[in-house]
This record gives sequence, C-alpha cells and structure tokens, in this order.
Amino acid sequence: MKKIILACIACFVFFKVYSFNVLDQGSCSELLTTAKVLKGIPLSSVQKDRPSALVTGGLGFIGSHVVEELLSRHFQVFIYDDESNGHNFNSETLNLHGDIRVVNDFKQLNNLQIQIDYVVHLAASISVAESMTMPDKYNETNIQGSAKVFFWAQSHGVKHVVAASSAAIYGDPPANEVPIKEILPYRGKSPYAWSKWKMERIMESMSKEYGFCCTALRFFNVYGPRQDPHNPYSGVISLFMEKAKSGQDVVVLGDGGQTRDFIYVKDIARAIVKALLGGRCKYDHFSVCTGKETKVQDLAHTVVKVFESKSDVTNKPARNGDIRKSVCNPHKLNNVLGFVPEVALEEGLKHTKEWFLSQ
Ligand SMILES: NC(=O)c1ccc[n+]([C@@H]2O[C@H](COP(=O)([O-])OP(=O)(O)OC[C@H]3O[C@@H](n4cnc5c(N)ncnc54)[C@H](O)[C@@H]3O)[C@@H](O)[C@H]2O)c1
Repeated sequence: MKKIILACIACFVFFKVYSFNVLDQGSCSELLTTAKVLKGIPLSSVQKDRPSALVTGGLGFIGSHVVEELLSRHFQVFIYDDESNGHNFNSETLNLHGDIRVVNDFKQLNNLQIQIDYVVHLAASISVAESMTMPDKYNETNIQGSAKVFFWAQSHGVKHVVAASSAAIYGDPPANEVPIKEILPYRGKSPYAWSKWKMERIMESMSKEYGFCCTALRFFNVYGPRQDPHNPYSGVISLFMEKAKSGQDVVVLGDGGQTRDFIYVKDIARAIVKALLGGRCKYDHFSVCTGKETKVQDLAHTVVKVFESKSDVTNKPARNGDIRKSVCNPHKLNNVLGFVPEVALEEGLKHTKEWFLSQ
C-alpha cells in the first residue's frame, strides 16, 4: 500500500513538472531568461538594433547551417525547436524549447517582447518511411504545426517566412517530364509528401487572403556536415560515408542506376536567406537543386574514393517504391530567385568527409 501511495505521489510530481515545462513554459518571462535559455545567449544579451530571425527546427541538420549563415550576416537569431531530432546548439543564439504543435509553447515568443523580422520554418517530421506507418504525426506536425507557425508569424508582424518543402511532392514523374520543373502536378507517394504539399497550400491561401509574405523551397537531396549517419532515414551520402569511414561494404539498393540531384547544405542555407531577403511578398515556390544528375552507384564509388577507403561497393535488392530518376531543372531558382549553387559534389563530399573524420 505504502509503495502504491509513493508511486502515486511520484506520478503526480512528474505530471506537474512535465505539464509546467511542456505546456506552460513561457508563462513566466523570468523563467524564460533562466531555465529555458540554458545553451545560448541570455535574453539580456539580445541586441535589438540587429535584424532578427526565428529558425524553427534550428537545432537540426539544415537549421544549424541556416543559423550560421544568418549570424554571418549579423542577424540576431532565435531558435525554436523541441529537440526531438536536433541537438546542434549554437552559443550565439537564443534557444527556446518549443513544440510547433503546442499553441501554449508559442507564448515564449510573445514573452520575449522582441519584434521577430523573419522566420525560417524548418521544424518537421522528416521521414518518408515513418510517415507511411504514422501518418497522423505528419498531419499534426507538418500541416497543423506549420499552420500554427504561419499564423503566429502573420499576427506578429513578421516580414517574410521561408518554409522547407520537399522534392518528395514530385513523386516519380514520367521520364519525359524529367528534369523536374516547378509546374509539375502533385505526385507524392507518402504522407510526408502530402504534408509538405498541404503546407504549401496553406501558405498560398494565407498569401492570397491576408497578404502573408512567404516562400516555399522544395529541397532536393541535401547532404553535408551534421547529417546524422545513425538515423536510418538519413540521406544516402551520410549512410555511405559511415560505411566508407569504417571500411565496411557500401551497399547500394537496386542496380545503382537510380539518379538523384544532390545539393550541399551550405548552398541550401544561402538559398533560404536569399529567399528571405529577396523582397518578394506574394507566395511562390522554388525547387532548390543543382540540375546535376548523379547515379547512386557512381556516388558510392566517389565516396569510397574521397575517403581513400578499402570498402567495396555492393548491391542489394531495391526498396519498393524507390524513385528511379530525380533531377531538377534549376531555371526558376537561377533566374527568378537569382540563386545559383556554388559547391560541386566532390568538393561538398570532401567538406563532409572532414566533418565525419572529426566525429
Ligand atoms: N535533409 C533533406 O535532404 C531534406 C530534403 C527535403 C526537405 N527537407 C526539409 O528540411 C527541413 C529540415 O530538415 P533536416 O534534414 O534539417 O531535419 P532535422 O530533423 O535535422 O531538423 C528538423 C528539426 O526540427 C525539430 N522538430 C521536429 N519536430 C518538431 C516540433 N514538433 N516542434 C519543434 N521542433 C521540431 C527537430 O528537433 C530538428 O531539430 C524539414 O522540414 C525537412 O522536411 C530536408
């Protein structure tokens, strides 16, 4: 009996602490400046004369590079991330622990009493495979959570929002429609793809209805330092590198003739900032890619070469539903957004290798 009572007390205390942290954090700005901003600058160090940007998902792979790009341009950067998949803390940012699905978490932003000028929205559930078995999670985070971010931004005078969409929305277009252009219809094959498509449609209608200034960027295959090789859903490059580093076989699924358009993460970060500050208001979307098509088999050999590894490249049966040919036409990105990627694949692989070896 005594044990049961103790267990009940423990549960009650846990619930109180948990509900305070997750639901009511930010209801007290005093706490915000102490307990919640542990790994970053305190609120008192925020310089209000600098332009400000909020990066949702800023602790993640792409987010951490966007943060660096913004800091290099003298932005005051705020991160909003629930740490579910990102842990790349930057000592020069103010970090808020928040979930984009929880309305109360947004109170933290109001409590800052700082005008946020720009928002980069990257927070998302990111796995195509997981979305097949957990579609509700993708609806809640990528559609409803994104809508909460947009409504918060719209009602708080944010000048422009750039959000991460994905090439997954193009699905597997017929060969005569590749290289892929932005005008292609939705052909996504997963709840993940659908969630990104719906997120775009919310942006588009908010732009029409309320003059919400926003841009969606459809990233192709992003690679670079800080992409987690231990996450089975991570990009193929980080998975190949993990094997090449340890001399194990680099396994290509299928015959390796499938192609992808790989873009270095620093180029993605520059494209985001270009769209953010480009002065366009009306909703638009752009594919962010290089226009260069790489066979996965060739990629595997290049990774082995860059690592000077003894790994063999081997093949295993293809996954069901794997896209055969994916390369984009970067015309709109280059000519309308005025952005051209700078980092060639082999150069990007070398930078990524240096990071891998430093881990
Ligand atoms: N990496 C790619 O190749 C690629 C390609 C296309 C699109 N994208 C998109 O780019 C964005 C960033 O992707 P990434 O590869 O950096 O992924 P990532 O998982 O490294 O970053 C996402 C971040 O969002 C955070 N997050 C997740 N759910 C959250 C929630 N409910 N509330 C607050 N924070 C939350 C995670 O903790 C993580 O730090 C995502 O929107 C993803 O869909 C990525």
